[in-house]
Amino acid sequence: FQPKSLAGRRVLLTAGPTFERIDAVRGITNTSSGKMGFAVARAAWEAGATVTLIAGETLLPTPVGCRRIDVRSAEEMLGAVQAELNGTDIFIAVAAVADYYVLNQSEHKIKKDAHILTLELAPNPDILASVACGENPPFCVGFAAESENLLEYADAKRHRKQLPLLVANLVQQAMGADDNEVILLDDNGQHRLPRGPKLAVARQLVAHLARLYAAR
Ligand code: PMT
Repeated sequence: FQPKSLAGRRVLLTAGPTFERIDAVRGITNTSSGKMGFAVARAAWEAGATVTLIAGETLLPTPVGCRRIDVRSAEEMLGAVQAELNGTDIFIAVAAVADYYVLNQSEHKIKKDAHILTLELAPNPDILASVACGENPPFCVGFAAESENLLEYADAKRHRKQLPLLVANLVQQAMGADDNEVILLDDNGQHRLPRGPKLAVARQLVAHLARLYAAR
């Protein structure tokens, strides 16, 4: 009998897109499907963890064994993360959080006319950085989706957000797809995982993070 690698651990994840409201019917979002984050949640549960999944808007079914909290905007996602953080051993940020929210939101549907409409965008809080750079942070895992210079940009993100582990993937391969190919970046260097279904990739990622967590 081998104990499961994350037995007794509490894992908190973010997954999917966030949605930033413009008016009563419109908003800004991105094409994250939630598949990668939901696969990681399931893999963490399979590894014995108690899993809480904070999900942006997606129609995916809740992964077996996981507790799910649905949110819409980055601000709501941050609030849910802060409310759930206490007692968390491992925080995994898979969500594609909108970088900006709309300052001049309208309560009602904006009526179309011949004028140019200008949206004022203000930066959203960085949820992962706020957790990783806080006091007594859990073991934090970030993701980086880049469309070019993958390793260079991802490595810079890992250092800026002070992460022991970052998962780098290409937007063109990862966003919305059923398969993924990732490179894990940690203090020991780069580890390329073979391309495969997101659940297979997630299981290997969880095995790697469990080893790092045990050796921290
Ligand atoms: O959902 P899928 O269709 O399966 O696609 C999966 C994915 C491509 C969304 C996923 O694999 C992925 O790469 N997620 C991270 C997307 C991204 O590029 O994040 P980022 O570079 O904007 O941010 C880096 C890290 O900080 C991420 O862990 C992100 O969750 C986190 N972040 C970013 C901004 C912000 N305001 N708050 C955050 O927590």
